[in-house]
Parts: sequence; C-alpha cells; structure tokens
Amino acid sequence: PSARTFYEEVGGEPVFGALVARFYEGVRSDPVLAPLYPQDDWEGAETRLRRFLEQYWGGPTTYSQQRGHPRLRMRHAPFAIGPAERDAWLRHMRDAVDSLDLTAEQDATLWGYLTMAARSMQNRFPDE
Ligand code: HEM
Repeated sequence: PSARTFYEEVGGEPVFGALVARFYEGVRSDPVLAPLYPQDDWEGAETRLRRFLEQYWGGPTTYSQQRGHPRLRMRHAPFAIGPAERDAWLRHMRDAVDSLDLTAEQDATLWGYLTMAARSMQNRFPDE
C-alpha cells in the first residue's frame, strides 16, 4: 500500500476546513488584509484556499479541476503584497495552525511550507 499522504495523516477535510475557517475569520477583521479580498465572495475565497491546500498535501485534486494550474504568483499579481500584508497573512495563518491539534513534526512541516510560500507571494519590496 502507498504511504499515507500528509492530508490523510493530519485528518483530511475537516482539519483543512477548520484551518481555513479560522484563518479567514482573522483576515475578515484585519484592516490591512480585508480590503484586498472579494467582499461579496468570502465563502468562495475560503473554498479556493482550502481546496488548494488539500490538493498540495495529497488530498483531492478538486482545486485544479475547477481552477486549472495554480500559478499562484501570477494569481496574486493584482494584489500589492508587501512586508505588512505578508506578515499579517502569516500571523492569521499561525493563529489558525495553532488552533489545530497537530504533532510538533506536522506543525513544522506545514508551517515551513506556509512561510516559504508567503515569502514567494510577496510582490512589493519597499526600500528599508
Ligand atoms: C487568493 C491574498 C498568500 C493561496 C488570494 C486572494 C487574495 C490573496 C486577496 C483573492 C481571493 C480569492 O478570490 O480567492 C494573499 C496575501 C498573501 C497571500 C495578501 C500574503 C502573502 C498566499 C499563500 C498561499 C495563497 C502563501 C498558498 C500557500 C491562495 C489561493 C488563492 C488565493 C490558492 C485562490 C487562487 C485562485 O484559484 O483564484 N490570495 N495571499 N495565498 N491565495 Fe493568497
């Protein structure tokens, strides 16, 4: 039998659902981040992020069936993401990861990816 995916190991859809629900609760009330998001489609934004993360970690491939190749840097190009936006995004994500019941190793795996991905999504680099 093939090895269990990280998606399965941490608990599958309920866990990814809880992660993004908690994350968007924070984002919706964040004065820096909230204005960037589609105000009439918070539910859609939540679903897109959940499905992307599920797919990334070996779960169902619904994200790409519905959205095609992720090309995340390109999809974030319309949004000005500088250090403040990146740090706010990571702060809400840290809070959401903390709300899960992961082992230290699972936490490190997930958090390592999220911090790397958030840095790569930054597209504004103001001078010091
Ligand atoms: C979409 C902001 C980082 C994954 C979006 C959207 C915004 C946004 C405003 C549009 C919402 C929507 O309609 O779906 C940001 C900011 C970030 C950040 C400010 C700070 C660094 C990330 C990271 C990931 C990610 C690190 C992945 C680990 C996604 C995905 C979508 C999305 C999958 C939906 C793409 C689509 O199919 O259209 N993001 N994002 N974002 N973001 Fe981010």
